[in-house]
Amino acid sequence: MKHLIPEFEQWKRRYPAGFESSLTIPCLRRIQEDRGYVADSDIDGLVEYLGVPRIQVEEVLEFYTQFRRVPIGAFHLQVCHNVSCTMRGAERILDHVQARLGIVSGQTTPDRCFTLSRVECLGSCGTAPMMMVNDTYHENLDIPKMDAMIAELSATVPAERAS
Ligand code: FES
Repeated sequence: MKHLIPEFEQWKRRYPAGFESSLTIPCLRRIQEDRGYVADSDIDGLVEYLGVPRIQVEEVLEFYTQFRRVPIGAFHLQVCHNVSCTMRGAERILDHVQARLGIVSGQTTPDRCFTLSRVECLGSCGTAPMMMVNDTYHENLDIPKMDAMIAELSATVPAERAS
């Protein structure tokens, strides 16, 4: 994460002295954006850089489910299975995706193309069932739409991920 320090320094100037711990979440988000997940070495680096207790960084990583501690596939399918989505067929969609990709929630395909996660409400209940693919919402899903999306994404997987 050392190459990100100049960026962090710009953010730090916006905070009063003594409030460096407020940078924990933004720094972790940037690290994950850069690496794809937050490694142990990133935690070490952030603890040293911000001067915060390690437990504070680990608590943030544990509490916020959007942070990842292990590498994932090129496309992270986060399928909501909360009430509105389930009432509109999310479980059938999840079963279908699991069967099609040959993985269950929490796993990554062997080609590192897809990671599948069953997640709680993503705040888009009016367009249920829905999921996120990386940072993008896909709404009013059904099985044909999922099949088309998986086929399209499979064809665009970055070469370095599929190797
Ligand atoms: S229940 Fe799925 S987005 Fe709210």
